Amino acid sequence: MPDSQDRTAIWNLTDIDPVKAEQIARLRAQAVSDPDGFWLEQARRIEWASFPAVASNSSFEGDVSIRWFEDGMLNASVSCLDRHLADRGDKPALIWQADDTTVSRTLTFRELHEEVCRLSNALRALGVKRGERVAIHLPMVVEGVVAMLACARIGAVHVVLFGGFSPEGIGERLIDSSAVAVITCDTGRRGAKRIPHKVTIDAALTHAGTICAVKNVIVVQVTGDVVPMKEGRDHDYTALVSQQSPACEAEIMRAEDVLFLLYTSGSTGKPKAMVHATGGYMVWAAYTTDLTLAPEPERVHWCTADIAWITGHTYVVYGPLLSGTTTLIYEGLLGWPQPGRWWEIVDRYEVSCLYTAPTAIRALIREGDEVPGRYSLASLRRLACAGEPISPDAWEWFYEVVGRRRCPVADMWWQTETGGGMLCVIPGAQPMKPGWATTPLPGLTAVLTSEKGEIIEGAVEGALCFTASWPGQARTIWGDHKRFRETYFTFSPGKYFAGDGARRDENGYYMITGRMDDVINVSGHRIGTAEIEDALATCHAISEAAAVGVSHDLKGQGIVVFVVARSSKVAPAADELSTIICDRVGRYAAPERVYLVNEMPKTRSGKIVRRLLRKIASNETESLGDLSTLADPAVIPTLIATVKEQNAAS
Ligand code: PRX
Repeated sequence: MPDSQDRTAIWNLTDIDPVKAEQIARLRAQAVSDPDGFWLEQARRIEWASFPAVASNSSFEGDVSIRWFEDGMLNASVSCLDRHLADRGDKPALIWQADDTTVSRTLTFRELHEEVCRLSNALRALGVKRGERVAIHLPMVVEGVVAMLACARIGAVHVVLFGGFSPEGIGERLIDSSAVAVITCDTGRRGAKRIPHKVTIDAALTHAGTICAVKNVIVVQVTGDVVPMKEGRDHDYTALVSQQSPACEAEIMRAEDVLFLLYTSGSTGKPKAMVHATGGYMVWAAYTTDLTLAPEPERVHWCTADIAWITGHTYVVYGPLLSGTTTLIYEGLLGWPQPGRWWEIVDRYEVSCLYTAPTAIRALIREGDEVPGRYSLASLRRLACAGEPISPDAWEWFYEVVGRRRCPVADMWWQTETGGGMLCVIPGAQPMKPGWATTPLPGLTAVLTSEKGEIIEGAVEGALCFTASWPGQARTIWGDHKRFRETYFTFSPGKYFAGDGARRDENGYYMITGRMDDVINVSGHRIGTAEIEDALATCHAISEAAAVGVSHDLKGQGIVVFVVARSSKVAPAADELSTIICDRVGRYAAPERVYLVNEMPKTRSGKIVRRLLRKIASNETESLGDLSTLADPAVIPTLIATVKEQNAAS
């Protein structure tokens, strides 16, 4: 690992291309002097049926209204597929590497186009209409990408749901989005395990009951496992699409028509579906991919994210396909069946850009430098990461051991709400700085504010906000514009508040310091404390519950839960509470620890002070800070003693 002097060496890397630096400086200047002209120029990165005359018509004031390119008309699947057919129809668009090392599949742009058209026709034949929602619940298989693009082709709104959500969580999302169809599979593979997709969907539909609008369930055969099929509702994917024509006329959409909903977690309340609009999102996917990942036709781009998350939407599916590059998806697990699996894939397919999450980098570091050392990795030209803060050490490992000091690392800060990258180094145009997401992309106006929402200047730490809209910004929360306005635009009126804290250095570079709200980031997955607490509220044996995030070596953050039993005679077991969380939220929300305590630290108005629970769970009891706001400060020593006792007993 480089010493601190080397860190400066990386910071001062001289691989700056003066032509590129100049080009980016011009972009930044044009975005300021002529924003409309600038954004309309960026809109040319995608294909339009009717090119827009207007760029933004957005306001963060009053009711908050975000609209981009609103007189433009387009279809997202045409930009990703049809426009490449003439030049590179026979070039690979999508490579699928199965969990089984001997199985893979490559689809050219023409083949992917045909698959998408077949499913589009099948969806239309089932009666799915423009504007209706279709849920997708699939592992990393070709049909996941096909399903997203087929929805886009017929103007249906895709709602991709994470395989790890509980049936109850899926049921709630099916009701909230009023999805009319679900595309799922028999079972998925996860290392040696099977993930019961169809059974989960059946349970979710039972949970959702009669208010659910799902009429059709399309089942892809991934493993061939036998699953129950309900006559009249469930359809075998292959039987359905094989009867369909490989040509399908695309529905021409208005730029502001919804392309997809994607659920994410916030501080309070149930998960919310962010609404992304067709034109602006596509422009943002193309613009950010081009600027930061430098995709090239003939090269292979591998973003390891699951398509169920926004990174999968933007940097597995839309961004790379828009640019005509080959996108690779991998069905399996990181170190399965051997620790060098990822590197074997990089070498086998000559991956050029590898985009992953810090949590994966930490797991790879644990395997030892000798594992990537056994592989060539000579095809790599660009590395990227996103989803959570990356430590300078992990950044340097990625740069040194994987990138062999040849490949720039783009640490990209963004969110489900932003649609695509926001803060990111533009490799070749500016120096990198390990652990720093660097600067806003041209056209973005980031500011830091005090806790009161006032703008603060210079090298300071504060709340990260944006003063003006950008094309990829989510338009609203599905069915709840009030929540959208209140969550993002009231902290500092007239600005978008991201929910993250950041530090800015004297060069204007930003480093994300973490969430300022009650969102926990476990291995890059966003989980709201309210989701866990609501799940625990269903357990009659407990009267109070509070979840906090604590630092975790591998996951970034882990969840620790504090509960108060309703009666000392029937104290609930930690395992039982953990199961309730897994059943109601999903396994990815399983807590690291559950502490049974007598009393919670509360303010005089009765609010649980999570800050103190976080400190106690992290064993940082020396620096608890001001306790004078507590209703009863005497609770604290008892709490500390209880936690110590329970730690010693485990
Ligand atoms: O806290 C920030 C963290 O992940 C959150 C967004 O999560 P999600 O909506 O799932 O979108 C993931 C898209 C990458 C942010 O509010 N985050 C994301 N990227 C970074 C990050 N924290 C630090 N550095 C990053 N590069």
